[in-house]
Amino acid sequence: MSRDKFAAMTSLKIRQATVADVIPLSGLIRRTIRVSNFKDYDQKSIDRLCTIFEPEPVTKRIENELILLCFMGTELVGTVGLRDDYLRSMFVDPEYQGRGLGKMLVARIEEEARQRAIPEMMLHSSLTAREFYLALGYEFVEFQTYPEGPFVLMRKTLL
Ligand SMILES: CC(C)(COP(=O)(O)OP(=O)(O)OC[C@H]1O[C@@H](n2cnc3c(N)ncnc32)[C@H](O)[C@@H]1OP(=O)(O)O)[C@@H](O)C(=O)NCCC(=O)NCCS
Repeated sequence: MSRDKFAAMTSLKIRQATVADVIPLSGLIRRTIRVSNFKDYDQKSIDRLCTIFEPEPVTKRIENELILLCFMGTELVGTVGLRDDYLRSMFVDPEYQGRGLGKMLVARIEEEARQRAIPEMMLHSSLTAREFYLALGYEFVEFQTYPEGPFVLMRKTLL
């Protein structure tokens, strides 16, 4: 393991989000969309996606689904959510991508889903994250088009 990866793993903490986290959470997600999804979506789609993750709708998500937050020290660096049998809101700060944090967050949310006896996880992948989910064992189901742009429906058997 590289020194970077080791340093990252040793100071990592994962906990459930509360409404008190809404401002940094909304900021992390919208920053990541603008930096990382920009190459796969046009400006209108990026703006629509950012609207979905403004503080008010993010507060509703925190109240209605399980949202995990990943901190490196005191810095919020990643997040993932679970609503029913859907993995949602998966984002890793652009500065911290490629270090295994996304993989670790997916493993944690899959573990939670198994505890809830969810047999199959579904998700709508961005075009940006397709290869990431394929690497984690998710299968392509179909392309779907939304006002925010094209997404990829994917599935993985858990139980
Ligand atoms: C997609 C995302 C969450 C991945 O997080 P990450 O921390 O960078 O991913 P990891 O470092 O944990 O990668 C895990 C595995 O996926 C692979 N992977 C990640 N991104 C990849 C890509 N774009 N292409 C190919 N493989 C990729 C890695 O090589 C790694 O494989 P390994 O376990 O064999 O080494 C992150 O890049 C992100 O936030 N992207 C922008 C937002 C987004 O589109 N989110 C998804 C919304 S549905």
